[in-house]
Amino acid sequence: MEKIFYTIQGKRSDIIIGRAWELVGDLIPAGQTVIITDSNVSGYYFDEFPDCKVLTLSPGESSKSLSTVDQIVKELLKLEVDRSYFLLGIGGGVVSDITGFVASVYMRGVRFGLVSTSLLSQVDASIGGKNGVNSSGYKNVIGCFTQPEFVICDTTILKTLPYEDFKSGLAEIVKYALIRDSKLFSLLEERASSINEGNKSLMDEILSRSVKIKIDIVEEDVREKGERRLLNFGHTIGHAIEAANGLKHGLAIARGMVFSSLISLEEGYLDKDKYNRIIALLKSLGLLDGVPGISSSYLEIVRRDKKREKNIIHFVLLNDIGSAFIKEMPLQDLVTWMENKI
Ligand SMILES: NC(=O)c1ccc[n+]([C@@H]2O[C@H](COP(=O)([O-])OP(=O)(O)OC[C@H]3O[C@@H](n4cnc5c(N)ncnc54)[C@H](O)[C@@H]3O)[C@@H](O)[C@H]2O)c1
Repeated sequence: MEKIFYTIQGKRSDIIIGRAWELVGDLIPAGQTVIITDSNVSGYYFDEFPDCKVLTLSPGESSKSLSTVDQIVKELLKLEVDRSYFLLGIGGGVVSDITGFVASVYMRGVRFGLVSTSLLSQVDASIGGKNGVNSSGYKNVIGCFTQPEFVICDTTILKTLPYEDFKSGLAEIVKYALIRDSKLFSLLEERASSINEGNKSLMDEILSRSVKIKIDIVEEDVREKGERRLLNFGHTIGHAIEAANGLKHGLAIARGMVFSSLISLEEGYLDKDKYNRIIALLKSLGLLDGVPGISSSYLEIVRRDKKREKNIIHFVLLNDIGSAFIKEMPLQDLVTWMENKI
């Protein structure tokens, strides 16, 4: 078991990686904790939950809304939950985003922690303190930055995660390797088949490297004004593909990473052999299976990207495997580039 901690805005968060699921009971106040989960996760793990009140959401992105927040608030009020209580999210990225958001706003803030049950939430969603819900067709447009007290990332819990959701997390791991860690990239290349088989010690190692990269970047730039933008590698186009095709997040991001790597190649920043290695790795991890190419419907969605400022997109490009930089790109240049590829 490995414990990594970070401190942001004076608040410490502990990330516990490894066989740690059983520890959660020791980290929460007895009799004053409410669990928020979804019905898939509670279906598998309810018997292992600590003895607390449980609020169960419908699984999936549609639960990430203000109406769910309102429902949870009503339940918390019914349970007479006051500011001394603790909220424990047990689930994937949807549960962690909602739990963090409710904990930030309920009675102006209560303590919270997370047991991350999907690979995507272990490597990404539950780390860094961004919480939020979707509204009016925009993802995560209402939200805040609040750090959980702890995040438990126990890879044994991934055994029940559907393969497509596992691949979603893998895509984010490839992203970390591409933007910051060439050794992680080589490890992924060498051990792709063991990863697909879910080798536990290998997963713990990969998880630990990925979490450290995310923490490093987030500590440098809490509010996403500079370095944190690197984490958006593959996401500008990836989000458009996700929104247009309803494709799983990771597969859409994998396709977005292909396009961002291609722009890096065509603009002369990235060598051809490195571009080929990126495509080969994404393929060997099954991340390009059945993923569509670019279509004109993405253009409008890219135009609406909430991360753009006026008509400038902070587009993330690669100049090497393990090294990324931000290029301020007029939105129109990106749109023209995409139009030329359709
Ligand atoms: N806040 C952030 O920084 C951040 C970063 C990345 C993604 N996100 C958000 O995370 C969400 C995606 O996360 P996700 O992929 O975990 O989605 P999710 O929470 O919907 O989980 C995916 C599916 O797997 C199921 N599941 C989760 N753990 C399981 C387990 N151990 N066994 C069986 N089934 C399990 C869930 O019920 C769900 O059906 C999106 O809403 C995205 O916006 C947030």
